[in-house]
Amino acid sequence: MYIPSSTRYCEQMTYKYCGKSGLMLPRISLGLWHNFGDVDNFDVATDMIEYAFDNGITHFDLANNYGPSPGSAERNFGKILKNNFAGYRDEMIISSKAGHLMWEGPYGDGSSRKNLMASIEQSLSRTGLEYFDIFYSHRYDGITPIEETMQALIDMVHQGKALYVGLSKYPPQEAKKAYDILAAAGVKCLIHQDRYSMFSREVERGTLQLADVYGCGFIAFSPLAQGLLTDKYLNGIPEDSRAARSTGFLQREQVTEDKVAVIRQLNQIAQQRGQSLAQMALVWILKNERVTSVIVGSSSVRQLDDNLKTLQNLDFANEELSAIEQILSSVNTQLPK
Ligand SMILES: NC(=O)c1ccc[n+]([C@@H]2O[C@H](COP(=O)([O-])OP(=O)(O)OC[C@H]3O[C@@H](n4cnc5c(N)ncnc54)[C@H](OP(=O)(O)O)[C@@H]3O)[C@@H](O)[C@H]2O)c1
Repeated sequence: MYIPSSTRYCEQMTYKYCGKSGLMLPRISLGLWHNFGDVDNFDVATDMIEYAFDNGITHFDLANNYGPSPGSAERNFGKILKNNFAGYRDEMIISSKAGHLMWEGPYGDGSSRKNLMASIEQSLSRTGLEYFDIFYSHRYDGITPIEETMQALIDMVHQGKALYVGLSKYPPQEAKKAYDILAAAGVKCLIHQDRYSMFSREVERGTLQLADVYGCGFIAFSPLAQGLLTDKYLNGIPEDSRAARSTGFLQREQVTEDKVAVIRQLNQIAQQRGQSLAQMALVWILKNERVTSVIVGSSSVRQLDDNLKTLQNLDFANEELSAIEQILSSVNTQLPK
């Protein structure tokens, strides 16, 4: 029978305060976007959650639509919690989100109050939780007034359904408005979640700085560019990889020869540092003072273990950073989406 290790005894993980809040997050968090749905192996999913928690990963990131099927990642996570983690809720930070398509009809998509309020109820019911530690507006939808979406987040906190709230993928102008509305209501935005990796650096153009100014933490998603920033695609597309799976968001066409050539050069630098490319790609993000944590995805305990070892070498020499910049200057840093 699995007995969770208390995170109090986990020395290899480090934690950082999330912006100007009293909440610490592990530098490495685990995301359940892929590999936890009902198309996936439940035993492997269970092993990964156990391994993560035993190694100090206290933060698990969900969304209502993660699966496939949509909702199944929340359901499976709820089952794993119930089977293996009874009594450990207070040692975990569990987040979820709403705002992308979840159910058909006019109310199952977007950032309306109707969708968010219905969604948090559904997510609580699927996971079996009484509250989420963090609940996010999953995206700025370009239509719903920001006041409406933020009021829904504020009310979730007042109703005890979420302890903190966050924004995901809000462009700087809209994020600023949202931060102001939340602060005025006394429900400060805890955290901004956005895509950030060596291959996707848009957040360096305003988002990171703005979050910092507002005392808001920042958590990077897809820090390995969905697996591209690892050694897995160096010699073709393995059959068990995200790019090969029909349910994966990374498409075969995104694994281009040009990109693989860049990945090979980065891999050489990682090898010289005595790290895997995945580890170097994670350190490269964590070195930024404004980043609270990275949310990695994993399809096996072996990958998770590789990613956790990142924390053993967080230093970069200036020459290494310059060499990486040089290599990255030749890629289209907007891809993959
Ligand atoms: N807010 C948003 O809109 C949003 C959007 C996307 C993601 N997210 C969050 O961010 C989390 C992470 O996103 P992501 O899964 O795209 O992250 P990622 O860490 O960039 O990619 C994870 C994938 O990379 C491969 N991988 C991971 N570690 C590896 C290693 N050490 N060696 C070789 N391959 C490795 C695995 O792919 P294989 O399956 O090929 O083995 C794994 O599934 C999500 O689960 C979700 O919680 C949020």
